[in-house]
Amino acid sequence: MVTDVQIEQAAALLRTSRRPCVLTGAGVSKESGIPTFRDALEGLWAQYDPSELATPTAFERNPKLVWDFYEMRRERVRPAQPNPGHLALATLEKRYGALPIITQNVDDLHERAGSTQIIHLHGLIARDRCSRNCQGDPTLIDVDALGWDRSAGPPVCPHCGALIRPDVVWFGEILPEKALSDAIAVIETTDLMLVIGTSGVVHPAARMPLEAKRHGAKLIEINPFRSELTPHMDAWLEGASGAIMPRLLAALEQA
Ligand code: APR
Repeated sequence: MVTDVQIEQAAALLRTSRRPCVLTGAGVSKESGIPTFRDALEGLWAQYDPSELATPTAFERNPKLVWDFYEMRRERVRPAQPNPGHLALATLEKRYGALPIITQNVDDLHERAGSTQIIHLHGLIARDRCSRNCQGDPTLIDVDALGWDRSAGPPVCPHCGALIRPDVVWFGEILPEKALSDAIAVIETTDLMLVIGTSGVVHPAARMPLEAKRHGAKLIEINPFRSELTPHMDAWLEGASGAIMPRLLAALEQA
């Protein structure tokens, strides 16, 4: 259980910060009902490892299987609501006037919580694009406007006929150029990074806290379990973000 003293120590670090930022992973959306990547998949999908489905090879080999995997995940994301962890970050942005959030998550819960400076390193699951980006990067396509039956697997691009795919980054693919350069600009100027709900195993996101630290930033992690990044932290608040973030915010308001 995280003590009030630990919360106060983290709040004291935040109080000294002039340019805080955040890195989030799937853990920040767990309390909104969206399983993390390291959670076991359920039902039909239990036999699959996400890293075997979220790849260009898997999509080439079996487009409908990969499309259906994302349709299942979109059905999980659609009804999800921002949880107190997302909402506390939105309040923190108002307090600081700016709080860039670099996220690995493909849901839009930070946006729906009211945060406004979000950098999606791995894309957005609600969007689809031409797999060839035939009209430019990205060539977004509104599949519903095509009148397509989503259970029939991926439609084809109305411009070039290539398969349409979710606008997310798959294993082995490069990150969106603008997202990466925006994240680097934040990392090079921040003086404190909150690292929330990430196992710290997927690069380049996992390197970002270390880069920020190299530029002199303090690191505070919020995670109920140790991650690959915990040893590098100035503070580790061992708990769920939906419980810890409101306590951290309350401690900040008390000063
Ligand atoms: N609050 C905070 N953290 C939590 C919570 C919670 N309520 N519940 C779980 N966690 C932590 C877990 O302990 C774990 O460290 O969230 C982390 C989730 O780790 P992953 O499932 O690996 O998710 P993430 O780190 O975002 O994965 C990175 O891997 O599969 C790729 O592209 C995918 O963006 C994803 C990337």
